[in-house]
Amino acid sequence: MRVKLKKGETLEGIRKACQVAATALEHLCHFSKVGMCTYDIDQEGRRILSELGAKSACFQYKVADLSFPAYTCISVNEEVVHGIGRLHKIIQSGDLVSIDVVVNHQGFIGDNARSIILGEATKEAQSLLDCTQDALVAGIKKAREGNRIGDISNAIQLCCEKRGYSLVREFVGHGVGEKMHEEPQIPNLGKRNTGPRLKAGMVLAIEPMVNQGKPEIRFLEDGWTAVTQDKKLSAHFEHTVLITKNDPEILTLSCS
Ligand code: MF3
Ligand code: CO
Repeated sequence: MRVKLKKGETLEGIRKACQVAATALEHLCHFSKVGMCTYDIDQEGRRILSELGAKSACFQYKVADLSFPAYTCISVNEEVVHGIGRLHKIIQSGDLVSIDVVVNHQGFIGDNARSIILGEATKEAQSLLDCTQDALVAGIKKAREGNRIGDISNAIQLCCEKRGYSLVREFVGHGVGEKMHEEPQIPNLGKRNTGPRLKAGMVLAIEPMVNQGKPEIRFLEDGWTAVTQDKKLSAHFEHTVLITKNDPEILTLSCS
């Protein structure tokens, strides 16, 4: 496996891109309101990224012969990830909305995501959201030089399964740099002390996707939007972090 360790100008470029990604995500979380459609949120994403001097890394991202048509990913309730903003998808009170922002700033990538509940939250939705955030923090705590990828995966899995939730297997965290998806992959389930060893200079996007019910997903007809098969809720949190000799540095913490 080839994992390029980041330093110097490359690391500074990634750092800046991550700050832009964090600022844009923070902005979209405040901007989003009950009664808006998900297309409105995506269009605001397009606007804020251009104001910040960045491009969406999602727009026209290709998997096989499919090209992603939106600027951000907006996934509501049973939608897990990669939701495409739609005019007819109106946010209702209590909706769990996951917003994923991946930017390309001067050739470098920053990637982060957050779930929020708009209007009045049910206890069930709030608990799922809290668990997903806790799982991300638990994973980040294991992101230290000398540990292995499986230590991150295992911490995420334990955190969620002990609360009765399940983890999506089809999508994984990933290295970040000049491309959105670099090695290594970071599954959200796994065994301690397995997988590649972590080294200072690795930049990793850690991103648990946690389901209220069963782990299985399917795709909508658009070919992108992943939804839970049992139609129960799903939440998603993501940070891009830098492995150091000491504590990991969260590059997508918002300063605003
Ligand atoms: N955070 C997501 C990921 O790492 C964003 C991808 S959006 C896509 O896979 F549209 F580009 F696929
Ligand atoms: Co990602």
